[in-house]
Amino acid sequence: MTVTSPLRTGRTIRVIAHRGASFEHPEHTLAAYRQAIADGADALECDVRLSADGRLVCVHDRRVERTSDGRGVVSAMTYEELAALDFGRWKGEEHRGAQVLLFEDLLKEALAAGRPVGLAVETKHPTRAGGRLEAELVRVLKEHGLADGRDGLIEVMSFSRTALTRLHRLAPGLPAVYLIERPLRPLRPPYATHAGPGIDLVRRDPGLVGRLKAKGLGVRVWTVDEPEDVELCLRLGVDTLITNRPREVRALVERP
Ligand code: G3P
Ligand code: CA
Repeated sequence: MTVTSPLRTGRTIRVIAHRGASFEHPEHTLAAYRQAIADGADALECDVRLSADGRLVCVHDRRVERTSDGRGVVSAMTYEELAALDFGRWKGEEHRGAQVLLFEDLLKEALAAGRPVGLAVETKHPTRAGGRLEAELVRVLKEHGLADGRDGLIEVMSFSRTALTRLHRLAPGLPAVYLIERPLRPLRPPYATHAGPGIDLVRRDPGLVGRLKAKGLGVRVWTVDEPEDVELCLRLGVDTLITNRPREVRALVERP
């Protein structure tokens, strides 16, 4: 990777590993997250869904076909059924045998990292689960003493205003990121401390970053894997980059 302009002197940019180090490992697997921690990620991004028996699992898609050797809808499958699937082989034979990851196990992994490693937790499909997903997430966080936001390790993210509102009611101290994929979304949803526009949106409308910052919001952009996109975000004053390639992006933002 090459970078053309030195823009980062004296800046502190956070790097969040999107679904782990998911460029090289199967997303949302323990191997992907361990690699991200080894790569120096400040925090780990994960998507969470509820299994049929109420367990929080780290899976992006509604269905399991893309990332496993099974078939079906995550929310209609029990944890035992999900755990029987291979979530690694789709990425290559060398990843064969990777299992679905429970959110709680990811949390324990982050806490055992030996340095502060945060979690950026994205809740998926809030309306379908009717609030149960957010309640379970906050229950798990409370069990570990992490729901008040004071440790600075956990933040919650969603494209849904409903989800952010629910999370705020359950855990008002947690930093909340309102994810934005379309330009027409309101700039300041209730309870959000940060905004998270996609890189496509930022490329089309670079002024968006300044407008969000002027509203008092922190700005984190996803998914920033290319050097030119890293440069663009640094130039615009983005404070956090979410990337599938934490090692490479960390190296770019730390370049003197
Ligand atoms: O980090 C935000 C980003 O993950 C949102 O999009 O589809 O990758 O969950 P998606
Ligand atoms: Ca996500």
